[in-house]
Amino acid sequence: MTVIGLSFLAVLILTGGLTVLLSIPRDRNPTFSVEELHACAWPSLESTIPSLDVPPINKSEFLTRQANLAAALKNEGVDFYITEPSPSSLYYFNISTSYSLSERPFLAILSSNGSFSYLAPKFELSRIAGLEMVYGEKLVIIEWKEEESPYAALKREFGNETTKLMVDEHARFFIASGLQAANFTVLPVSPAIASIRTVKSHAEINILGAINYFTVSVVRSLQPCIRVGVTQETLFDAAHSLFNRAGVGLGFWAIVLFGEQAANPHGGSRGKTLGDGEFVLIDIGSTLQGYGSDVTRTILPLGVTVSDELLDAWHLVQKAQRTAIWNTAEGNRCSEVDAASRKVISDGDYGPYFTHRLGHGLGLEMHEHPYLNGANDEVLKAGAVVTNEPGIYVTDAQAKSKGLSRGFGIRLEDPVVVGKDRAFVLTRVTALSPWRP
Ligand SMILES: *[C@@H]1O[C@H](CO)[C@@H](O)[C@H](O)[C@H]1NC(C)=O
Ligand SMILES: *[C@@H]1O[C@H](CO)[C@@H](O)[C@H](O)[C@H]1NC(C)=O
Ligand SMILES: *[C@@H]1O[C@H](CO)[C@@H](O)[C@H](O)[C@H]1NC(C)=O
Ligand SMILES: *[C@@H]1O[C@H](CO)[C@@H](O)[C@H](O)[C@H]1NC(C)=O
Ligand SMILES: *[C@@H]1O[C@H](CO)[C@@H](O)[C@H](O)[C@H]1NC(C)=O
Repeated sequence: MTVIGLSFLAVLILTGGLTVLLSIPRDRNPTFSVEELHACAWPSLESTIPSLDVPPINKSEFLTRQANLAAALKNEGVDFYITEPSPSSLYYFNISTSYSLSERPFLAILSSNGSFSYLAPKFELSRIAGLEMVYGEKLVIIEWKEEESPYAALKREFGNETTKLMVDEHARFFIASGLQAANFTVLPVSPAIASIRTVKSHAEINILGAINYFTVSVVRSLQPCIRVGVTQETLFDAAHSLFNRAGVGLGFWAIVLFGEQAANPHGGSRGKTLGDGEFVLIDIGSTLQGYGSDVTRTILPLGVTVSDELLDAWHLVQKAQRTAIWNTAEGNRCSEVDAASRKVISDGDYGPYFTHRLGHGLGLEMHEHPYLNGANDEVLKAGAVVTNEPGIYVTDAQAKSKGLSRGFGIRLEDPVVVGKDRAFVLTRVTALSPWRP
């Protein structure tokens, strides 16, 4: 509190009369403004900016991905893989998801012999040629005119009744049904092919590490600056402005919840100010070179505490998260990792209040394969990146029937890389306490 009071005074002295005028209404409201919160957090965040400077995915890595996909198609006896602009087309061909989808199909196609082609509306050809797609030596462009069926055009170029097309999971239904109506044999994505994207390369892990470390650093820089009375919106906006200033604000999102609000894991309500004895749950992320960050911390302002029962619950979540890290190893099933973490919460008597899965894959999508839940018996592969995010959620009503003083929500989330015997934390260090996030 003292530190904050002094720096507020410094701002007044340094900026003079204008700030004094602006500060009059704030005297009645003890909350920091977005600018003050930003100014308080920035100095400690600034030193992490250089770590965002990581090399992008280069052409040879894209070609390796295409070769891996082609080999898997050949192995499964499939002729072509078809995607619309989506995270999959971004992964394999560098076709950005910012290409806006319309009712006119634009399809990227990889043959099992490794060659790339695309199907595009004739009048859009020059716009599409401007996309920075990546492919090998040869490119076949299949154009379709407005007066013909795009699927008939594809058939003319490549197909017959036995041509097998595997349609990416992000392609829209009318694409798959249009191909089917043209008498192609249409197949859904096989588990083996869906899992190609789950194992990350060194270059991908570098990018994911950079943006996730930066994301947790934003929370670490804000924690000593917040205090009771701050609003959800102020904290959200200050975090957003920090991401923007660091140049990674484009994909920014955050869920900021106080006290019992967090009993609903994804929140929903707004307009609350932080009260005494309440946790701040902040689930936050952005993107770097298309790759996402996803980190959650449940924190307290300096000098503020919560009841022993809430602190005990915080430490139980921490233990569940650590247990999951030791179980997130190559060869273990997703369901087993979820169960190991869940057991810690159940043994602590909060079993029914850990209401969601342990985690999900993270990469070009915020949620992707593999999913760490009780129903998924998929075996983890070394190099997969998954979130590890146990939580406990108790509403005020549930708290009453459980003999607790108040409702709350606690979640701790770090993305990790699956290793041989355990996971490695992309944020470098998991939360040590509500005051040391
Ligand atoms: C991928 O596309 C982006 C623009 O969307 C471009 O900056 C980058 O250079 C491309 N990558 C390769 C390897 O061509
Ligand atoms: C690969 O397959 C495509 C599509 O069937 C075909 O046009 C191309 O000639 C083939 N390339 C090689 C090297 O066989
Ligand atoms: C049908 O197409 C597939 C691949 O598109 C090709 O391998 C096969 O030889 C073709 N069959 C006939 C009968 O033309
Ligand atoms: C697809 O096959 C069915 C049954 O053989 C045939 O009646 C139909 O005309 C074919 N459609 C196209 C677009 O080739
Ligand atoms: C491309 O990136 C890979 C790492 O993903 C690296 O091994 C390789 O040397 C790079 N190639 C070039 C031409 O920079």
